[in-house]
Amino acid sequence: MELKEAIENRRSIRKFTSEDVPDELLIEVIKSGILSPSGHNKQPWKFQIIKGDTKDKLADMLIKKMENVEGNTSVHTASVMKEANALIAIYLDNSSIDNIIDVLSIGAAIENMLLRITDMGLGAVWIGNILNIIYEMKDIVGNRQMISCIAVGYKNQEPHQRPRKALEEVLLEKLN
Ligand SMILES: Cc1cc2nc3c(=O)[nH]c(=O)nc-3n(C[C@H](O)[C@H](O)[C@H](O)COP(=O)(O)O)c2cc1C
Repeated sequence: MELKEAIENRRSIRKFTSEDVPDELLIEVIKSGILSPSGHNKQPWKFQIIKGDTKDKLADMLIKKMENVEGNTSVHTASVMKEANALIAIYLDNSSIDNIIDVLSIGAAIENMLLRITDMGLGAVWIGNILNIIYEMKDIVGNRQMISCIAVGYKNQEPHQRPRKALEEVLLEKLN
């Protein structure tokens, strides 16, 4: 797949089949994350594959914490986590001293992974709602700081592109 095509075809996928995604494919995805740019080339990230009961336990923690919070999307996100075959968790490396640059770097790694996932014909959604259980999850992941995770699986939907602001709305006047 051409890069332009991957950029245009990427969608957040929230419905998955029950087919297992082999760890080797998930490692391929992580390798694409590792190739992304990072501030001072610090590569301030750790990646972790989470499957099975541990994945579902994180989803249950998210439901428990957020089910009574009106208008929150976390409970839906938790159901997506359960349906997905795997999570790839991305942690801020413990040695981080420049949080903003390091978190931006992690965002770059995540986008690289999402594009590679698209290229491989798999589906995924970026999960920021996981930040709602940053303290609760310590029983499972220890003291690592999870910034986001990606729920990955074989797609069971082909969503349309979600609306985007028009170029004219976001492009400021050129400065010479
Ligand atoms: C930082 C970030 C956090 C996100 N967190 C969630 C989330 O917790 N749950 C979810 O279902 N989607 C999440 N998304 C996906 C967005 O909802 C999605 O990218 C947006 O609606 C545009 O749709 P598209 O990805 O299909 O183009 C997140 C996206 C980003 C970039």
